[in-house]
Amino acid sequence: MRIMVLGAAGMLGADVVRVLADVRPGASTTHQVLPRTRNDWDITDPMACRADITAIKPDVVINCAAFTKVDDCESRPDKAFLVNGEAVKHIAGACQTVNSRLIQISTDYVFDGAKGAPYREEDTPNPINVYGRSKLKGEEYALKIEGSLVIRASWLYGRNGPNFVDTILHLAKEKKTLTVVDDQFGSPTYTSDLAGAIAKLVQKELTGIIHITNSGVCSWYEFAREILKIAGKEDVSVAAIKTTVINRPANRSQFSALDNSRYISITGQPLRPWPEALAEYLVG
Ligand SMILES: NC(=O)c1ccc[n+]([C@@H]2O[C@H](COP(=O)([O-])OP(=O)(O)OC[C@H]3O[C@@H](n4cnc5c(N)ncnc54)[C@H](OP(=O)(O)O)[C@@H]3O)[C@@H](O)[C@H]2O)c1
Repeated sequence: MRIMVLGAAGMLGADVVRVLADVRPGASTTHQVLPRTRNDWDITDPMACRADITAIKPDVVINCAAFTKVDDCESRPDKAFLVNGEAVKHIAGACQTVNSRLIQISTDYVFDGAKGAPYREEDTPNPINVYGRSKLKGEEYALKIEGSLVIRASWLYGRNGPNFVDTILHLAKEKKTLTVVDDQFGSPTYTSDLAGAIAKLVQKELTGIIHITNSGVCSWYEFAREILKIAGKEDVSVAAIKTTVINRPANRSQFSALDNSRYISITGQPLRPWPEALAEYLVG
């Protein structure tokens, strides 16, 4: 298959390219992978987007590009809606013209967290910040075209971008006590595992929405403690604080874990538990 990956220099995009382009003996795929970064074209440029996609006519376009700085989206809503919403409209339009299948990456932050249990694909989104609202717009544009798939993920970390795991390890070098919120719950997800899951789904005629995360749910506080434990930094303590104590520009869902039943029913197995994936990220 010819697969174009947008946002290929980002944290998830780089792993998607690596996994799909894996040509080692025994690797499951022999795809032609066409990575695209901001240096190739800006996804908010409709002409450049259309020119490239319609010239290449990929079988699949995976859009990992996004404006992902959740707090910055509050002060730059125009940019958030342009990159996470309108750009997806152009990408979807170009895909439709040449019958390319669009896989759009989205987020747990389309939900408000009020359910208090893992969200299923059919649950009604109700984003509580600009980032979530702009990503929901992107989902809507992607789902308007036939054959498209929206993959919602959560709490990503990986080798190719700044993330919570690296931040905790960095802070642990400077401080003996870290403060982390214990009243927001979700599922930490390793981009390498998510990329593997995406590679499995690429060849399936799946449409609509699917939730994919590593298994299990924790708070940011529990996540931080596990990071320090695995990294052998248990001399650094973690103090639990409440979200109301820290003043961040964007509201955060208190419970944004995603129910992976659809993914499990299609592939036969869940992604591994988040502590296992974290251990691989930290110690290999
Ligand atoms: N990070 C998370 O915790 C998380 C959780 C759930 C879902 N997601 C979703 O997962 C996907 C991947 O996220 P990620 O964490 O891998 O994000 P990321 O590391 O920020 O990567 C996004 C990439 O998109 C590029 N990009 C941004 N605006 C662009 C534009 N106008 N034109 C071309 N490229 C542009 C960025 O380039 P620059 O670096 O040059 O801006 C970057 O390389 C996104 O859809 C995100 O919404 C992320």
